[in-house]
Amino acid sequence: MNTIRKPVIMGNWKMNLSLKEASLLADRLRMALPWPGRAEVVLAPGFVHLRDIAQRLADSYIAVAAQDLHPNDNGAFTGDTAGPALREAGAHYAIIGHSERRAFYNETNALINSKITAAFRNSLIPVVCVGETLEERQSATWDATLRHQISTALEKLPPENAAYILWAYEPVWAIGTGKSAQPAQVSEAHALIRQCLSHLYSPSLANSTRILYGGSVNAANAPELLALPDVDGALVGSASLNADQFIAIVRAAG
Ligand code: PGA
Repeated sequence: MNTIRKPVIMGNWKMNLSLKEASLLADRLRMALPWPGRAEVVLAPGFVHLRDIAQRLADSYIAVAAQDLHPNDNGAFTGDTAGPALREAGAHYAIIGHSERRAFYNETNALINSKITAAFRNSLIPVVCVGETLEERQSATWDATLRHQISTALEKLPPENAAYILWAYEPVWAIGTGKSAQPAQVSEAHALIRQCLSHLYSPSLANSTRILYGGSVNAANAPELLALPDVDGALVGSASLNADQFIAIVRAAG
């Protein structure tokens, strides 16, 4: 891990936990992580629980993220949630372009680009997920996939906004499989993301951008993954549902 870029450990609870379970988990984390450590800690509960969890964490150093947002700020979009409402509920971050949304809801890179703009319009920090499928990894087109995802997500985005994006490299084949990518693969992908940002904007923007790794991060593999020089934190799915695991991952970040 780099000493200039403050690491971020983010828990993505996905469509899990009742309000009671989510509240208990938030309380345990708040008590176990009472001081601002080296890492920023962020939790992404489901939309329905976001306000409750944000209120529970209001006097803590743990921030709250939305798992998605709509590109428009209001309108006839049944079932969707807009940036202003998320901000009002207490979110400070928004996960955008998670591979589950790309796969199950056919989210395109163009849509992801408009969601990033919506996040900035509403003072939400976008956490933009990129990553290749197993097929793309095996056919050695993974780097082209990443380059395309990044350049289209950033289309027409000014550097003053791009500098605030948190990137999450999440190889689809490592998500929820219990099989994390190998450290060498993670390093190579993170270096590629930084190289793209340097090419699209500038070396200084690339060097100051934080890139998280996601895909089967747990208490056992976190120390090795978080120690990689280009890894600035983790986006954690299943292990974030377990307080002990998540606390250990936060501590592994220093
Ligand atoms: P996982 O999920 O940690 O369960 O693999 C990661 C993610 O989807 O962000």
